[in-house]
Amino acid sequence: MKIISDIQELRDHLRGQNRASFVPTMGNLHEGHLSLMRLARQHGDPVVASIFVNRLQFGPNEDFDSYPRTMQADIDQLEKEGVYILFAPTERDLYPQPQEYRVDPPQQLGDILEGEFRPGFFKGVCTVVLKLFSCVQPKVAVFGKKDYQQLMIIRQMAKQFAIPIDIVPGETIRAEDGLALSSRNTYLSTAERAEAPQLQKLLNEVRKQVLDLKERNAEALSAIEKKAVAQLTSRGWQPDYIAIRQQSDLAPSSDANLQAGEPLVILTAAKLGKTRLIDNLEI
Ligand code: PAF
Repeated sequence: MKIISDIQELRDHLRGQNRASFVPTMGNLHEGHLSLMRLARQHGDPVVASIFVNRLQFGPNEDFDSYPRTMQADIDQLEKEGVYILFAPTERDLYPQPQEYRVDPPQQLGDILEGEFRPGFFKGVCTVVLKLFSCVQPKVAVFGKKDYQQLMIIRQMAKQFAIPIDIVPGETIRAEDGLALSSRNTYLSTAERAEAPQLQKLLNEVRKQVLDLKERNAEALSAIEKKAVAQLTSRGWQPDYIAIRQQSDLAPSSDANLQAGEPLVILTAAKLGKTRLIDNLEI
């Protein structure tokens, strides 16, 4: 595997490759990321991965400084997966001048759910992803469904800018007890790690409650959301949101849409101690 930090060198290496498949990451790779590398391999060749902890998507009180950085272990795993190039720019490589041009997703998608609790997060994500796309120029890029809203926003960005890259979703990979794999799981204490699978358990309960409704309407969904928030809070979590939304645009569904069978997704973010976990489940 070639490890490249310089944008020009990356372009030189990829010259003439028009089927590259790209997996952007922030490192601290786990089985979830590796499954995305395997999916990338099915959709193009060569596979290019990136590791870059993107300062622009972290809020001032978030974990940019403490975000786990495990470059050598990541390299070893990517080599085993047969990744052709690892693009691992420094901040100076990717942002040689202050990044003053930014991509601001529309409010109705970028400022809800994660965007409400992490202001500017999706602006930072879209800006770096557009820049990485411009550096790698792949045919395909793979994003995990665990970051459901991120996947949707990147898809819309690619569509609205007519970026000729297919955005391929990868399924969420879970530990045996159901906890969605995440780099931030390493922050959990032993007791918190034992409690953490409750988040997915709750999503399954919410899903069942929605499926058991005799008639789906906005009021009934809101009651289910409130009950779920209370349940998590009573177990010592600090939920930011548990929201049942339309899969198509992540907006709350109207009674008319619900009755017409609109596909739904449950999205959640909640803190356990100091660790903020997110998860989702399609209905
Ligand atoms: O999902 C992530 O790891 C990041 O948000 C991404 C897409 C690599 C952009 O920094």
